[in-house]
Amino acid sequence: MAKLDEQIRILDFPDLGDERGNLVVVEGGSAIPFEIKRIFYIYGSDSQVVRGCHANLRSEFVMINVSGTSKVKVDNGCETRVIELNRPRMGLYLKSNVWKEMYDFSPDSVLLVLSNEHYDPNEYIRSYEAYQNLIKDQNKAEQ
Ligand code: TYD
Repeated sequence: MAKLDEQIRILDFPDLGDERGNLVVVEGGSAIPFEIKRIFYIYGSDSQVVRGCHANLRSEFVMINVSGTSKVKVDNGCETRVIELNRPRMGLYLKSNVWKEMYDFSPDSVLLVLSNEHYDPNEYIRSYEAYQNLIKDQNKAEQ
């Protein structure tokens, strides 16, 4: 059974800024634990909206609130945790097979998401029941 602690990680990016302002650099394969193939960003979602609600068979993600704040609920079928993204230097790394829900977006929230995979709708699990069944099958196969 996978441990949530081994499936997610909080990343803290260095600030290379100076008196002119902040500069945060994230490079694929080093600060980001994978080579980056896809970038998308979410803004204009408000505090009532819940996004995500899916797990991915192959995609890994790093989520960064480059502006504003949001919360991410992560769930591996056994454990859940809520992480508040509230600093542009903070990243949340999610391995594949983790259920995620993003919510409580501040009005100025810009949630930047990096991934190791191009978009493929077939690797998205959008039913929580299907996700639970997958985890049960994986746990059985491990035994
Ligand atoms: P969706 O996965 O529902 O967004 P979120 O996880 O933020 O709730 O995606 C919304 C739409 O955008 C859906 O039709 C799929 C499409 N989409 C892409 O085409 N490529 C992408 O990389 C992403 C993330 C979504």
